[in-house]
Amino acid sequence: MASQRRRQQYHHRLQRLLPFISAISGALLILFALLSFLAPPPVDSDHIRHLSSSGRGKSNRDLWSSRNSKFYYGCSNASSKFQRAEAITHPNRYLAIATSGGLNQQRTGITDAVVAARILNATLVVPKLDQKSFWKDSSNFSEIFDVDWFISFLSNDVKIIKQLPMKGGKTWTLHTMRVPRKCSERCYQSRVLPVLLKRHAVQLTKFDYRLANKLGTDMQKLRCRVNYHALRFTGPILDMGEKLVHRMRMESKHYIALHLRFEPDMLAFSGCYYGGGEKERKELAAIRRRWKTLHVRLNYSLIFSSINLLFHVLEISNPDKERRHGKCPLTPEEVGLMLRALGYGSDVHIYVASGEVYGGEATLAPLKTLFPNFYSKETIATKEELEPFSSFSSRMAALDFIVCDESDVFVTNNNGNMAKILAGRRRYFGHKPTIRPNTKKLYRLFLSKSNMTWEEFASRVRTFQRGFIGEPNEVRPGRGEFHENPSSCICEDSDAKAKRDSGPRKYGKGYNPTRKDVVIDDQNVDEPEWPDTDDGEDQKDPLERGLFNGTGSDYDGVTSDDPELEELLSD
Ligand SMILES: *[C@@H]1O[C@H](CO)[C@@H](O)[C@H](O)[C@H]1NC(C)=O
Ligand SMILES: *[C@@H]1O[C@H](CO)[C@@H](O)[C@H](O)[C@H]1NC(C)=O
Ligand SMILES: *[C@@H]1O[C@H](CO)[C@@H](O)[C@H](O)[C@H]1NC(C)=O
Ligand SMILES: *[C@@H]1O[C@H](CO)[C@@H](O)[C@H](O)[C@H]1NC(C)=O
Ligand SMILES: *[C@@H]1O[C@H](CO)[C@@H](O)[C@H](O)[C@H]1NC(C)=O
Ligand SMILES: *[C@@H]1O[C@H](CO)[C@@H](O)[C@H](O)[C@H]1NC(C)=O
Repeated sequence: MASQRRRQQYHHRLQRLLPFISAISGALLILFALLSFLAPPPVDSDHIRHLSSSGRGKSNRDLWSSRNSKFYYGCSNASSKFQRAEAITHPNRYLAIATSGGLNQQRTGITDAVVAARILNATLVVPKLDQKSFWKDSSNFSEIFDVDWFISFLSNDVKIIKQLPMKGGKTWTLHTMRVPRKCSERCYQSRVLPVLLKRHAVQLTKFDYRLANKLGTDMQKLRCRVNYHALRFTGPILDMGEKLVHRMRMESKHYIALHLRFEPDMLAFSGCYYGGGEKERKELAAIRRRWKTLHVRLNYSLIFSSINLLFHVLEISNPDKERRHGKCPLTPEEVGLMLRALGYGSDVHIYVASGEVYGGEATLAPLKTLFPNFYSKETIATKEELEPFSSFSSRMAALDFIVCDESDVFVTNNNGNMAKILAGRRRYFGHKPTIRPNTKKLYRLFLSKSNMTWEEFASRVRTFQRGFIGEPNEVRPGRGEFHENPSSCICEDSDAKAKRDSGPRKYGKGYNPTRKDVVIDDQNVDEPEWPDTDDGEDQKDPLERGLFNGTGSDYDGVTSDDPELEELLSD
């Protein structure tokens, strides 16, 4: 009783404080408006565009393949110690999961769910897809993935069933619970096993990133078998995807696929500024306001989040800082300039997978000028062909996934789930070039680009991008998320390696075979600064770390207490 009274008083005090908070925010906003008036105008980039048209970046690198990739191959077979599913599956232990987020985030959840079932010696029920996320899609598992293939491919690893069986004429009731993020094997044994033994059928909810990054080798290999072999899109999706790939290949021998994220909502919350002046600031601020009012409920969490938003606005007032920290996505034009600097000429064909682009055609125009052979699924397929997919966000995402996966060179301007999953997948399937911008370094370069010749600019881009183009051993084993760096599933071809080590140095100049486990190509290579994700594995939900704490890589740090917003920012 007393505590409830105290809470009410507290609530009242906070309510009285609210006008003050809004008055202060109003004053601050006016201050920012004034400051932005005084800010210098955006740099003119025509200069460099003109220069870039005169020549492409010179590079000795093969543009369409990774050096040394032939010494590595994907390896995910189980060891002889790994027992077959029949031997370890206990009767009356059923694990179900509900995934969360967009298609690619759900994919990581499905992958981890199979491993979780294996840890618990349980039978897995085919995962339930998230139909209510920001990306709203009513499709169920079997409409996106080939469910029979999924079950049969994994039959030696985990027993998987489509539905809970009947128990004496009744269906089991699922006991729902949630495990902490990055839960380890021990964590599953201590938290889920007792419940499973008692209730027999457990559903883990919001199952995304709920399994530790580091696991034993056999469990990691199981992860790869699920992600790279068992999860196959359904026939109609595969057929349409292959049709798109085929059309790109008809146009030219090679193509680049660019996964471009530049949506207004994402930019609004990444706190970045792209030189659009007062108009840009106003638009992005309006989006932030809209998100907040959309979810207004006068309660403590809202009050605290609005205070947090205020702090964030303060930080946004210094967008240069955000960009310096490498947290802002490259603009379409910047991506184009980077590619030209890396040696891809204006004749190269580029497929662009993107959602809504902030500023629309005007934002895309400079990229199209740099790469006139510009395609998207809407330009290479008819409306009728896309009709069975277009009202399902996951099916559309699956089509882009296929075209990006099959591309000769894959480029992203973001570090979301699709970028990570494809980066890992392309390592596994032969280290196909995958270019992820070294934004921290490139940002400063783009700022000073009007001050240098195209050759200087291009040469610096090439230097900064070493270690960020998908070569083998770019990232140390264990660094980054397992989905983006599946090092346990990448083996070295010892025969080819022995030949290379004894023979003349014909596999590329500067190659130094004695330096193992490190980036091989060059002494000056930057190691991508991806966090060691299990370090300090205190199983803390990233959301608990507070709003907008930019500790992660790219905008992983930009999380909020709004699950929809979190999904938007992450996938
Ligand atoms: C993995 O197993 C498959 C099927 O049993 C076999 O064909 C393949 O050669 C194995 N791969 C490796 C690298 O051992
Ligand atoms: C699963 O089965 C294996 C092999 O029988 C056993 O070593 C392990 O302790 C079991 N784990 C659980 C959680 O039941
Ligand atoms: C998935 O959806 C399809 C089409 O709506 C339906 O026929 C099928 O029964 C559903 N499957 C499950 C497991 O709910
Ligand atoms: C408080 O607000 C949050 C986010 O706006 C919402 O998820 C939660 O349900 C609200 N709590 C109550 C008691 O209304
Ligand atoms: C232009 O480049 C010179 C030499 O590299 C440097 O000293 C100068 O500060 C640069 N100016 C701007 C505006 O970046
Ligand atoms: C951000 O998170 C880190 C680690 O979780 C913590 O040490 C740091 O104090 C946080 N920073 C802010 C501004 O909350």
